[in-house]
Amino acid sequence: MAEIVFGFGTSHGPLLATPSHEWDLRANVDRKNKALAFGAGTYDFEQLYALRKGDHFERQNTLDVRKERWERCQRQLDVIAKRVAEVNPDALVIVGDDHHEWFLNDIQPALSIFHGKQVFNRALTKAEEEQKIANGGGYAMKIYYPQQDEIYPCPSGLAAHMVNQVVQDDFDVAALGEQPADNGVLRQLGHSYGFIYRRILMSKPVPLIPILVNTYYPPNQPTPKRCLEFGRAVARAIKSWSGPERVAVVASGGVSHFVVDEDFDRRLLDAMQRRDYGVLAGEPDVHFRSGTSETKNWLVVAGMLAETNLDMDLLDYVPCYRSEAGTGSGMAFATWQ
Ligand SMILES: [Fe+2]
Repeated sequence: MAEIVFGFGTSHGPLLATPSHEWDLRANVDRKNKALAFGAGTYDFEQLYALRKGDHFERQNTLDVRKERWERCQRQLDVIAKRVAEVNPDALVIVGDDHHEWFLNDIQPALSIFHGKQVFNRALTKAEEEQKIANGGGYAMKIYYPQQDEIYPCPSGLAAHMVNQVVQDDFDVAALGEQPADNGVLRQLGHSYGFIYRRILMSKPVPLIPILVNTYYPPNQPTPKRCLEFGRAVARAIKSWSGPERVAVVASGGVSHFVVDEDFDRRLLDAMQRRDYGVLAGEPDVHFRSGTSETKNWLVVAGMLAETNLDMDLLDYVPCYRSEAGTGSGMAFATWQ
């Protein structure tokens, strides 16, 4: 029978691929953002600064502090990469969110599992590259997308079994049999998945099962409780597969961004370590908005790991501030072994 032998969670935000002296590329985008989500409120940059100036984030936004934190993140990414290589799983179930990569406004399933035979991480077109650079993502695109198309094989039998089993378990997931395309041009693989392949696996093609959670886009995001329960159902589905696969599960994205919320991050990471599912399920849904919503990918994986006896090792939590208003990314790195 298949077995979940390893888990890990990692942030995947652009700061991880952007040298710390260039973080203002992203901070300048924050300054123009009129909808910065923090707690239950929504602010423009000036309002957010007025709200949080007592925390003196300028002291954590110096080049020295940024550099020290960026290096801490890189060290933990390397630790995770090494541990995954040692475990050498047969399949990787990556729980990520779609950022209007495969799904657009016409349809946005709450929960989806891909069960096709392969996915392409294709190189960006010139126009796509120019748009990423204009949005301050010029460095990050190199870590998400290859220079030449890469193909990642997918264990479609196991994935189709997972779809069928979670439906038996009352989760009516969307089932993707092919990578979506427009006029024959494949839609780009989401950076939730590309980051794991390019930065953690160094493009080594461990067979991949993408799970797509709509954490971002109203009105049908699954609740924290639903994410946990879905994770449990997925784990039961994996364990009921007759094949011999040793499976690793991954949470990609989060924790708080584009406004760093250390209290939120530490509360949830601590609850995951203590297996306190009541705290995780009880976190108000309004706290999971914008980039911070990706923390729900960790809840799905926490639900999966609840069905195993693997223990969480929180390698580091690194608040990476890029402005005096406390914008930036809370970066978390963990393994379950
Ligand atoms: Fe993301």
